[in-house]
Amino acid sequence: MSDLKKHFNEEAQEFDQRVQRNLPKYDQMVEVLINAIPDAKENPKILDLGCGTGNITEKTKERFPEARITCLDISENMIEIAKDKLEDYEDIEYVIGDFTQTELTTKYDAIISSLALHHIPTDEEKEKMYKSIYDALEIGGVFLNADVIKANSKYNEKLYEKIAQRDVMENGVTAEEISEMNRKREENDIPTTIYMHMKMLENVGFQEIDIIWKYYANAVYGATRKD
Ligand SMILES: C[S@@+](CC[C@H](N)C(=O)[O-])C[C@H]1O[C@@H](n2cnc3c(N)ncnc32)[C@H](O)[C@@H]1O
Repeated sequence: MSDLKKHFNEEAQEFDQRVQRNLPKYDQMVEVLINAIPDAKENPKILDLGCGTGNITEKTKERFPEARITCLDISENMIEIAKDKLEDYEDIEYVIGDFTQTELTTKYDAIISSLALHHIPTDEEKEKMYKSIYDALEIGGVFLNADVIKANSKYNEKLYEKIAQRDVMENGVTAEEISEMNRKREENDIPTTIYMHMKMLENVGFQEIDIIWKYYANAVYGATRKD
């Protein structure tokens, strides 16, 4: 089993509680992501990349009850929790797999993701993922990502760290928990600057590229496939 899969299988039970505690702007970030899905269709076909415990799909279903959603995640434990959470909703398909290795054969109106793509190891592989997302979108379809972003300077890196630490401490997180959190981030997170993301999206053909929300090291950005 890959280290990443092992990590998320172990995290699954506690994920919902932890994300609220460790990422105080999580709800706001998710709200922005959901608001940014165009309402061109009542029953859009949507792919949730790295769906985890199903939080993003749940909010999407609240906004678009008729949406047909595919939840893709590498961790079977995460998928099991998502299935329980979303059992009252219809038209949700669950796929266990690595999104960097999964051939996306269906066309979607929207491909969305939250806190997952920054685990892709290199910019080269991230751009490859963007290309496969682009190819899997309908013309007019959108890609939206809410994720962790790398600072573009040493000064900003320190600033982002300082703010993240202040925010979680206000949330009651202890200094010991912060060092454990930082250790896990070092092990599992490979974020890229927002500037690189914009460039990579442009490189693979996306248009209407935009940063919809940004709070220090977190951002929601997106783009449209126009042709
Ligand atoms: C931090 S969780 C976020 C879950 C959910 N999107 C949310 O915001 O609540 C990241 C999820 O991405 C999944 N993931 C990470 N890398 C993946 C990959 N290469 N293929 C599929 N899923 C992946 C993990 O298993 C985990 O469930």
